[in-house]
Amino acid sequence: MAKIKIMEHPLIQHKIGIIRRKETSSKEFRELVSEIAMFMAYEATRDLKLTDIEIETPLQKTVVKELAGKKLAVVPILRAGLGMVEGMLAMVPAAKVGHIGLYRDPETLKPVEYYCKLPADCEEREVFVTDPMLATGGSAIAAITMLKEKGVNNIRFLCLLAAPEGLKALSEAHPDVDIYVGALDECLNEHGYIVPGLGDAGDRIFGTK
Ligand code: PRP
Ligand code: URA
Repeated sequence: MAKIKIMEHPLIQHKIGIIRRKETSSKEFRELVSEIAMFMAYEATRDLKLTDIEIETPLQKTVVKELAGKKLAVVPILRAGLGMVEGMLAMVPAAKVGHIGLYRDPETLKPVEYYCKLPADCEEREVFVTDPMLATGGSAIAAITMLKEKGVNNIRFLCLLAAPEGLKALSEAHPDVDIYVGALDECLNEHGYIVPGLGDAGDRIFGTK
């Protein structure tokens, strides 16, 4: 079963409280999304494996820890997932970045694919998929299915807000994927928007609409 981790850190909760406000500007929204992603990257990398290696300090030899195992990749779901990339890379600067383009048809609420470009060795990496919003779950499920079809098997998903409906759908569709959620909201409204939510994440990050 998928591990679901809802963020408890007070700084994350405080920043999410600000991005929910309708008067928060695009500039501030973008900056905060990036900062929240940075804190979430910290939480989502807690269990990465370490190995001992010997090094020399200016004084003597000693044994230090180094990340072991798979290298990392960040894969945002376009557009809104892009807003989380900078914050993720602040924590894991050596990660490669792939892109998956999906938009949600406003009538059917079904995801429509339009782009996929991944690092060449993506299947050998631990992949962090980012999207601020997990609403019906359709976009996240489709993006992760695309990754699996390309041989990627170590996947974590990070979102700022989730609706219970989307969380359930994603964890059932991809039980092997750990899900990191900034805050769990009440439900979806009749247009498939998360409530209380923060509105349209892509529009708020990029200032469209
Ligand atoms: C938003 C959001 C997710 C999706 C969530 O993207 O960023 O990708 O909706 O909804 P779901 O869980 O019901 O699939 P949108 O389709 O608005 O595209 P955008 O990021 O280009 O604005
Ligand atoms: N996409 C968004 O940007 N916001 C929602 O509330 C739902 C889907």
